[in-house]
Amino acid sequence: MDPKQHWERVYANKSTDRLGWYEPHLQTTLNWIRELGLGKDASIIDVGGGASTLVDDLLDGEFQHLTILDLSKHALATVKTRLGAAADKVTWREGDITSVQLPPAHYDLWHDRAVFHFLTNPEDRKKYAVTLDRALKSGGHVIIGTFAPEAPPRCSGLEVERYSPERLHQELGERLVLQTHRQELHVTPGGVKQMYLYCRFRKPA
Ligand SMILES: C[S@@+](CC[C@H](N)C(=O)[O-])C[C@H]1O[C@@H](n2cnc3c(N)ncnc32)[C@H](O)[C@@H]1O
Repeated sequence: MDPKQHWERVYANKSTDRLGWYEPHLQTTLNWIRELGLGKDASIIDVGGGASTLVDDLLDGEFQHLTILDLSKHALATVKTRLGAAADKVTWREGDITSVQLPPAHYDLWHDRAVFHFLTNPEDRKKYAVTLDRALKSGGHVIIGTFAPEAPPRCSGLEVERYSPERLHQELGERLVLQTHRQELHVTPGGVKQMYLYCRFRKPA
């Protein structure tokens, strides 16, 4: 099945808090954003943001330049409905991260939780890395959460790649500097244990 069809079907059939990757708050990301001390005018993109609550928390934190990109129209519509009038403060992009055109040198922070690991084709990973490098400002930050080597080989019925910090660094480009990383156990609403790897990188100024 084509990936867009897959994800549209997933979001059409499950409420947000029943999705396997659901977390009430993306706490590691929020902690790291706080540590980075980004200004409220920072441009932040959540790649494959889905129905995640990160945008809700960043709006509560008064961040003003948020972009949510996702393959699924349905996921974006769910979040827009949840946010109500506040949705107008966000830039919404329905698209595929392996082919989308993003503004060059625009983002201060690139966030991706549980999206890059679905790119099982090396060509798609290269395209992702090129898009990231072009769209991120010099001095910008990257926070990525992927499945760790201990995680299961599939998620949402799809095969995934699993990453050590070294392998993720290699895939995204050695130009980025790995700042910190941690593993975190996620348990799905159905009780499946999934070990995540979170990495934070910086693009040299
Ligand atoms: C496992 S979900 C994670 C959602 C969200 N990041 C979170 O942590 O709750 C993966 C998301 O990536 C999106 N996605 C998958 N492949 C994508 C692609 N090539 N480009 C953009 N979004 C994609 C899916 O629609 C889905 O919303």
